[in-house]
Amino acid sequence: MKLIEVKNYDEMSKVAAKAIMEQIQTKPNSVLGLATGGTPIGTYQYLIADFTKNQTSYEKVITVNLDEYVGLEKDNPQSYSYYMKEQLFNHIDIPENHTYLPSAKNIDDEEAGRNYEKLIDSLGGMDLQILGIGENGHIGFNEPGTSFHSTTGIVKLTDSTREANARYFATMDEVPTHAISMGIATIMKSRKIVLLVSGVKKASVLNQLFHSDINEDLPASILKKHPNVTIIADQEALSIL
Ligand code: GLP
Repeated sequence: MKLIEVKNYDEMSKVAAKAIMEQIQTKPNSVLGLATGGTPIGTYQYLIADFTKNQTSYEKVITVNLDEYVGLEKDNPQSYSYYMKEQLFNHIDIPENHTYLPSAKNIDDEEAGRNYEKLIDSLGGMDLQILGIGENGHIGFNEPGTSFHSTTGIVKLTDSTREANARYFATMDEVPTHAISMGIATIMKSRKIVLLVSGVKKASVLNQLFHSDINEDLPASILKKHPNVTIIADQEALSIL
């Protein structure tokens, strides 16, 4: 894993956006794996600013998102589908039918995961996957204990993940209990991975990631096996290495 140390959130976002823009310039029809959460918002803002200024085109780009809650309608402001439109898609020239997120009708919808896998395969896999990391080491919504062989499917969220994401909901009861997430094996098939880590809240998990062996209790530890991973981490996230 290659580490790029940056000063703060803003610098992390700038460096990440540059990596995405370079990917698109090299291959205009790139398949980008995108993430949600607080971490990539600044990156998306830099992409939008670049689009406004330089008109870097996304017309041929295809995006596949990592995950989505189960039980929220697409127009629910807490859904990741809504987030992606608000934070990125509405502000660039990517065609609507080039943007994919997994979606499941209910928590027993096993077909949904298989369909998303087929979709990703039919697109030839992700050229570049952007990842954030949960405070417990999850990537996508693959919680500790998830098999490294997992593919896209329904996952039950841990209480700690629901609590970490509760800030986006009015009450804890509204936080969905399940999500549909790309599996760990799915993520690992990306040709390149960029992991974004910012803030003191992520310092402990980043410390674990650097020092732990590869084990399923720390889902992100599998990234050590991937041949092309870049971690962009800021000073706060690196504060207890
Ligand atoms: C969320 C998402 C992940 C994200 C992570 C960190 O639950 N499912 O894709 O990377 O947790 O979120 P944040 O960036 O808000 O810290």
